[in-house]
Amino acid sequence: MTEKVLRQSRLNRIFHWLFALSVLLLIISGFSTYWTPSVSHSMAAHSMVHRSLGFFATGLFWGWVYYHIVTQSYRDFWFRAREIGDLKGLFAYYFFFRKNLPRYGKYNPGQKLIYTGWVFGFLFQSVTGLLLYTANFGNILPFPITLQQLRFYHYAVALWFLGTAPLHIYLAATEDPAKLQAMLTGWVRKR
Ligand code: HEM
Repeated sequence: MTEKVLRQSRLNRIFHWLFALSVLLLIISGFSTYWTPSVSHSMAAHSMVHRSLGFFATGLFWGWVYYHIVTQSYRDFWFRAREIGDLKGLFAYYFFFRKNLPRYGKYNPGQKLIYTGWVFGFLFQSVTGLLLYTANFGNILPFPITLQQLRFYHYAVALWFLGTAPLHIYLAATEDPAKLQAMLTGWVRKR
């Protein structure tokens, strides 16, 4: 019988799917808030959904950070500067210059770059989102920045999530079905 190895712990899978759902809904509700006419009922509803999800995802994010620090599993996905050179082999594979993916750890350097970027991107969106929210109550911004500039940066990082999340989903769906299955069941067959 083939031996099975645990690739994704139960908690990691729960975090992943809750996070995936929240980020996808945050993207949809964020852009729909932006694109609906202001001072309309639907804009208020989209904005309320977006805000609530923002608070929920921020709580989830800190739980996720705590989990990865305690279990030290952040080492699996944290991109280090010395790994920049490893991207060469990965891109050679993606652009058909080599047949097989080079051997990496749990995640390849491209995945690590995206996951590490998401940590910073998420923190940024949490802080700027909270500041935009408190500005509704006449709060003065603690930095020399206008509300419009803050909105612009929040929107720009949202665009970056809009670009990278579908890329992650596309690669997860096409690269190795066993790894996708492991995000559901936890297990992969040892090769
Ligand atoms: C339907 C949508 C999604 C699918 C099918 C999916 C699938 C996967 C799969 C299969 C992996 C494991 C890759 C491997 O083992 O090599 C993974 C990892 C990961 N995904 Fe997703 N994903 C989705 C959406 C998202 C979204 C929206 C986010 C957050 C922005 C996200 C964040 C992550 C993170 C941070 C990891 C690393 C997991 C860890 O070890 O903590 N995913 N995803």
